[in-house]
Amino acid sequence: MIKLTVNASRKYDVVMERGALGKAGEYIGKANGRKICIITDDNVDKLYGQSEHALWGSLTSAGFDVYKYVFPSGEDHKNMSTVTGMLEFLAEHSFTRSDLLLALGGGITGDITGFTAATYLRGIEFIQVPTSFLAVVDSSVGGKTGVNLSSGKNLAGAFWQPSLVLFDPDVLDTLSDELKLDGMAEAIKAGIIADPQILTMIGSSAGELLDDNDLLTEIAAKAVKVKRTIVEEDERESGKRALLNLGHTAAHAIEKCSDYGISHGHAVAMGMAMISAAAAAEGLCEKAFHEEIVSILKQAGFALTCPYNTKELTRAALHDKKRRGDSITLVIPEAAGSCRLKKIPVGELEAFFEKGLI
Ligand code: GLY
Repeated sequence: MIKLTVNASRKYDVVMERGALGKAGEYIGKANGRKICIITDDNVDKLYGQSEHALWGSLTSAGFDVYKYVFPSGEDHKNMSTVTGMLEFLAEHSFTRSDLLLALGGGITGDITGFTAATYLRGIEFIQVPTSFLAVVDSSVGGKTGVNLSSGKNLAGAFWQPSLVLFDPDVLDTLSDELKLDGMAEAIKAGIIADPQILTMIGSSAGELLDDNDLLTEIAAKAVKVKRTIVEEDERESGKRALLNLGHTAAHAIEKCSDYGISHGHAVAMGMAMISAAAAAEGLCEKAFHEEIVSILKQAGFALTCPYNTKELTRAALHDKKRRGDSITLVIPEAAGSCRLKKIPVGELEAFFEKGLI
């Protein structure tokens, strides 16, 4: 069992333990007849959301009055109308401020449940139970919650920390390699930012990386430690937290150009390869470190050749509705475990992307 404590505006534990789903009630504690609403999508519901599953049993045994709200899976449903449906459901069932929500699923479920928790009765507790590798490595920790608007992704949201993150490594058995790679990109990102040991672990794993649940869990814990340090220092992203966006300017552009056919993690991998190549070409990143980044990404199984030209990428990056002003902040990898923020004028972005094409 691995337990990490995050000291953000709310203090909470991240617990990683085989069989944790069947112990959720014990971990949450203090049931006293409180209501808990499992929020999940229709895919994850079939796997872990049924009343016969150990998760449900553990919540009722601990004394919770268990409810469930299921929404259709997919990015298209990460919107305000799904949130409204959840809020109405909680109100109809008389949930109070002392009741809680449990996000059972991947990043979309965690983000949308967190946002619902942040707004229902001006804020109730929620538990993150990530069932994707991406969610345990990155999105379930740190308190970013939100939904998409028609103008863009994650444009409405709140910083709202969970009161517990509970990960059961056995859920990895149901994930495809492609899905595991999505999380691996964020783990490699954490390694580049602050923990070269993550890169060594991935680099020295001989082929069996994606099938080794213990190794994946160890990597996830190390990535969460990196994120914890940053979030504890800058929870609301007024500075240092932006380091977690390494590779994301190019990645968001790649996702957009592909009409979201290229998944987030795969786009982040391409984005990190591009930014380190461009930084090395400008003398900002050690050449050997750029080569190490590319070699680890390839070894993990990522395709790194970006299928879009720099004009297309620049247009997509600059039309991001979240972007404001005449400059754009990039995260520059400098050497193992060291990155810094660099602001460049938007007019220089295309030339920067050009240097990063590999
Ligand atoms: N995924 C980046 C962050 O939580 O800040």
